Amino acid sequence: MNVVIIGLGYVGLPLAQEAARAGLNVTGLDVRQATVDGLNRGRSHVDDLADADIAAMLALGFRATTDLADCQDPDVIVICVPTPLSESDGPDLTAVRAAAQTAGNLLKQGTTVILESTTYPGTTDEVVRPLLEKASGLTAGIDFSLAFSPERIDPGNAVYGIRNTPKVVGGVTPACTEAAASFYAHVCDTVVRAKSAREAEMAKLLENTYRHVNIALVNEMAIFCHELGVDLWDAIRCASSKPFGFQAFYPGPGVGGHCIPIDPNYLSYKVRAELSYPFRFVELAQEINNRMPGYVVDRAAEILNNHAKPLNGARVLLLGVTYKKDIADQRESPARPIARKLLQRGAVLSYHDPHVAHWQVDGRDIPRAQAPTAEADLTILLQAHTSYDLPGIAARARLLFDTRGMLSGDSVYRL
Ligand SMILES: NC(=O)c1ccc[n+]([C@@H]2O[C@H](COP(=O)([O-])OP(=O)(O)OC[C@H]3O[C@@H](n4cnc5c(N)ncnc54)[C@H](O)[C@@H]3O)[C@@H](O)[C@H]2O)c1
Repeated sequence: MNVVIIGLGYVGLPLAQEAARAGLNVTGLDVRQATVDGLNRGRSHVDDLADADIAAMLALGFRATTDLADCQDPDVIVICVPTPLSESDGPDLTAVRAAAQTAGNLLKQGTTVILESTTYPGTTDEVVRPLLEKASGLTAGIDFSLAFSPERIDPGNAVYGIRNTPKVVGGVTPACTEAAASFYAHVCDTVVRAKSAREAEMAKLLENTYRHVNIALVNEMAIFCHELGVDLWDAIRCASSKPFGFQAFYPGPGVGGHCIPIDPNYLSYKVRAELSYPFRFVELAQEINNRMPGYVVDRAAEILNNHAKPLNGARVLLLGVTYKKDIADQRESPARPIARKLLQRGAVLSYHDPHVAHWQVDGRDIPRAQAPTAEADLTILLQAHTSYDLPGIAARARLLFDTRGMLSGDSVYRL
């Protein structure tokens, strides 16, 4: 089976790895020459794959390319390109459109085309399908198959990968669902069939909106629990003992990454554009989660003030600037707005992160501390990377603001 994967990033590359391991003939197509050259030389640019994994893929016949001529005769084409937000907060489908055009030029009678990029319900049918049909002169559901399958990759997750995470698949016709499901049966243990592409698209947005809303719930509670003198983390621990009907979510300095802060917007965009009313839960969650970096900075100022120290001129050390622990990805990390606000208020900033060698905020280099225990008036724990000796950090810090609720001690203040 010839498989072409368009877009070799956090999503496309692990899929290419699993497909190559399954014995499929995999070609990766990307527009970035540097990415392609690096991969063909055995270098990984994503957190979850090591250079040794790329070497193993190359040994199994995987090749990366920027050239369509290297992708002839595809049985399956999977589109894994980015879907960022546009200036107006709607989805920016430029890369999806370009990749659909490419897929349309490559596909032949019998090819299965699958979109994995996260987007609003209707994209596969309304945006991708016409582009494929126009470029190929063929008809979806008759000459070729077309489906959506949401990506569920969780960077840094050592337990769940492509193979053991159930894969939802929805085609534009039932036969398209079956064609896509038969491809995924090679790379995943469990395939879940959706009624159509729209339900599969919605399933992904439901998953991420659910997280977004529940994180906002505990973030809002964290703010008033602080004022009420209630330890929310302890309340969550107690609530978690209920064996049914409760799932724990934890407050933090804000939401980051490529999914949680972005994907629910696709849904609210679609609801507003098509139905002219707001998706209020998403908009409220957005507002609360977006306010968290500012709240962290206000609390930092309050902690310093309680020790007769103004934020202006205070040495503040940020620990962990990536969007989640144990990975290097900084996309949409709340560390950036926090740093920006601290700098605006006159703090003398430094950072430490085992995964980030250089860090810039608005083009300004932030000095990197030698160690997480470096001297500072206030240390703010933003990301509790596994390699951090947290009790050691708590013991050494003059004042520690723990936005993850993991530490305790005389000099420790929790979010
Ligand atoms: N990263 C995650 O954890 C994650 C999880 C679930 C879903 N997703 C979704 O998956 C999609 C891809 O995300 P990602 O994190 O892999 O992005 P990424 O930025 O890591 O990788 C995308 C790759 O696509 C390439 N590309 C862009 N336009 C192209 C084109 N026209 N033709 C060929 N290649 C092109 C880029 O050069 C890049 O290498 C997005 O829709 C995202 O929302 C991501």
